Amino acid sequence: MKIITVKNYQELSSTAGQLITDLIRRQPHCTLGLATGSTPQGAYDYLVERYRAGDISFREVQTFNLDEYCGLPRSHPQSYFRFMHDNLFRHVDIQPENRHIPCAENGDLQAQCDAYNALLRAATVDLQLLGIGSNGHIGFCEPGTPFDRETFLTRLADKTRQDNQRFFDSLDEVPTTAITMGIKNILQAKSILLIASGRGKAECISQMVNGPVTEAVPASALQLHPDATVIVDEAAAALL
Ligand code: PGA
Repeated sequence: MKIITVKNYQELSSTAGQLITDLIRRQPHCTLGLATGSTPQGAYDYLVERYRAGDISFREVQTFNLDEYCGLPRSHPQSYFRFMHDNLFRHVDIQPENRHIPCAENGDLQAQCDAYNALLRAATVDLQLLGIGSNGHIGFCEPGTPFDRETFLTRLADKTRQDNQRFFDSLDEVPTTAITMGIKNILQAKSILLIASGRGKAECISQMVNGPVTEAVPASALQLHPDATVIVDEAAAALL
C-alpha cells in the first residue's frame, strides 16, 4: 500500500484529481470506479475544472459507482444517483450509457444486485476511487463483510447511519439498507485510490494501514491489493 500524505483537503483533492486526470489522458477509454460522500467532492471539482480547461474528455470513459441507498427515488437530493449528477456528470461530456449506478429505488433488489454484478464482471475497472467510513467500511461493505462478497444488499451499520445523518433532516430519514459492490468486486480493480481527510478518519486509517487484515476492518482488505494508493491529509494521518 502506497501512502501519500498531503497538507489539507485542498491538496488531497488536487492530488487525487490529478491522478485520475493522468489516467484519463493516458487511457481515454478507461473505466473508473467512483465513490460518493464528502471526501471525493473536491476531486470531482478538480476534474470538472480540467474538463472545462479542455485537458480531459469523459466521452469514452465508463464509470461504475460503488453503492446506492435503497428506497430513495433517484431524484432524491441524497440519492447517490443525484450526487453524481450534481457533482460530476452534469458538468462533463460523459455519455449516459457509460455511467452505472446500482438501481435501488424499489422492486426486486436482489435482481438489481445480480444485474449490477453481471455488469461489473464483464468490466475491467482501471481505477477504483474509495472513501473510508469511520468504522473502516469501503463502499457500504460494513465491518464483518466477508472479503469474497460480490454486489449485495447490505444493512447499514448504526455508526454509518449516524455519520450520514448530517445529510438528512433526522436519523429516521437515513436509509437502513443499500446495494453495494462487494469487497471482491473492489479488489478486482486494477488500481485502487483511497482518500481520507480529517481527524475523524485517523483511527480507521491507522487500522487499515497498520492493523491486521480482518473482516472487522473492511478497508484492511486493501493490504491484499498489489496497486493500492492511499492519500491522506495530515489530520487523517495523525495516528500513522
Ligand atoms: P465521507 O464518507 O467521504 O462522507 O466521509 C466516506 C465513506 O463513508 O466511505
